[in-house]
Amino acid sequence: MAAAARSATRAFARSNLRPVARSSRFALPIQTARASGRRGYSSEANAPKSNSALFIGIGLAAAGGAGYYFYSNGDAKASATFVPTQDDYQKVYNEIARLLVEKDDYDDGSYGPVLVRLAWHASGTYDKETGTGGSNGATMRFAPESDHGANAGLKLARDFLEPVKQKFPWITYSDLWTLAGVTAIQELQGPAIPWRPGRQDRDVAACTPDGRLPDASKDQKHIRAIFGRMGFDDREMVALSGAHSLGRAHTDRSGYDGPWDFSPTVFTNEFFRLLVEEKWAWKKWNGPDQFTDKTTKTLMMLPTDLALVKDKEFKKHVERYAKDSEVFFKEFSDAFVKLLELGVPFTSEERYTLKTSS
Ligand code: HEM
Repeated sequence: MAAAARSATRAFARSNLRPVARSSRFALPIQTARASGRRGYSSEANAPKSNSALFIGIGLAAAGGAGYYFYSNGDAKASATFVPTQDDYQKVYNEIARLLVEKDDYDDGSYGPVLVRLAWHASGTYDKETGTGGSNGATMRFAPESDHGANAGLKLARDFLEPVKQKFPWITYSDLWTLAGVTAIQELQGPAIPWRPGRQDRDVAACTPDGRLPDASKDQKHIRAIFGRMGFDDREMVALSGAHSLGRAHTDRSGYDGPWDFSPTVFTNEFFRLLVEEKWAWKKWNGPDQFTDKTTKTLMMLPTDLALVKDKEFKKHVERYAKDSEVFFKEFSDAFVKLLELGVPFTSEERYTLKTSS
């Protein structure tokens, strides 16, 4: 893998593919410190191993968009009710952002991409007909949902966030995972994502059946069926797919391999530009059918990614986003806000735009 990553960087230097601005913090060449993927994730049910003797119980009630956290040190008189404010959520954001810098032993130097994927897979189980699934519940903590094939590798993201949960025990996992996705996108130079608290964790009974998340080997019909079930239109489906400017696929998780572009830790519209401008051919290998770029043979596209330019309606949006990064950022942000809120019984309209770390 190390050799492949280095050759990807060299090939890029030789190619006429346009580089994108990188943050100094994440301006890393594609590097090799790949966290090992693990299969067979066991349940993290009842995960809170609070190191605080203060923790007796959590009562979360949504009111005015704020979660209420009841805690006590065992002395009934000392009981208090804590109502988190925007500042408190900013502290959680800041802690995730700090850890993103501190813990750089993931793939290309940032856990950001896998945090985005966690937020998406937690939310993308929503079914508008039955009102089931979605980010409200964080049911991926439990088997069988944690063991669904589509969720392979996401234990790394959940484990990354566990110290944050320990530090801020008043936040629900459901709010934490979605907030982590927002933090990752903003910290990796993506658009601002206004975010709303108020999700409540649910138990194993709320786990969704397998098969609600998309299958990358399929075509445009499948994309429309899966995202249509959540309530998205063509434009939103294409916008959301642009998150593949981040991260990479792993043979020991999905079976696919490689990054979509040369800056997998910077949120850009490169995914769309490469879809339009690069030539893509079937990769010759022993893995599942995927595409590789003809110029460097180091990038990848999934069959579902290529479906976005094979389908005329989808392609219109791909071309718009390839041309105009600002339009993509705006429409991605709107669609991602919608994704993270699917099926959540919020009691407040107020969203917070949390500050990106300087
Ligand atoms: C048709 C829709 C989609 C399909 C079939 C799909 C499929 C995949 C697959 C197979 C991987 C590789 C997983 C691995 O091996 O680690 C992946 C990674 C990823 N996906 Fe998607 N995805 C879709 C939509 C989305 C959406 C809507 C988002 C977010 C808004 C997203 C964000 C990501 C990110 C950030 C990664 C990289 C994760 C990492 O680096 O660990 N994907 N996706």
